[in-house]
Amino acid sequence: MESTALLIILRLIHVVAGACWVGAVYVVARKVFPAVLASGPAGGVVMGQLAGVRKLPMFFIHLMAATILSGILLYIRNGMLSNGEWYRSMPARIYGLGAAFAIVTAILGVTINSPTARKIGALAGTIAASGGPPSADQQAELARLNAKLQKALNVGALLLVLAAASMSVARYMP
Ligand code: HEM
Repeated sequence: MESTALLIILRLIHVVAGACWVGAVYVVARKVFPAVLASGPAGGVVMGQLAGVRKLPMFFIHLMAATILSGILLYIRNGMLSNGEWYRSMPARIYGLGAAFAIVTAILGVTINSPTARKIGALAGTIAASGGPPSADQQAELARLNAKLQKALNVGALLLVLAAASMSVARYMP
């Protein structure tokens, strides 16, 4: 494929998927999940809808895969076009820093956020199926899982904002 066309396609995928990823994680971390937590049992129902029916974790995995894969290809492309010279430039270092923030967030998402959200969904389902109020143990476990997910979401939102900030200034670094 002609180089400019490839660049345009990769940048289109990269910037749109990256912007959606940062925005979605930020809104879930700072607005949606706190609202879910403040809504008691109704919040559990909304979480079940988001995770089970709307497949929110899978949506995040698609966005992160599209952003990271296209970003790595753009990174390699810049290096190849300059015979490796570009990798030693300041912009390359700042793009690399932003990429590291985003990749750490993806690893956290897959190893902490997704499994914790799944455990919350399963426990909420067990409680709902029992027909009665949750036991003290179930309540404690739910509170622990919710706190863990909120913390992981906050860290992810912060890292992704730092990734977007690095990407937005990298090109102009002297
Ligand atoms: C939240 C994640 C990310 C966001 C929001 C994001 C956003 C952006 C944006 C807006 C640009 C355009 C900057 C400009 O033209 O001045 C860009 C460029 C770039 N990004 Fe990312 N990015 C993210 C993650 C990554 C990752 C994981 C990599 C992996 C290596 C990466 C590598 C690059 C590269 C190499 C460019 C330069 C493309 C070019 O030379 O035209 N980005 N990114």
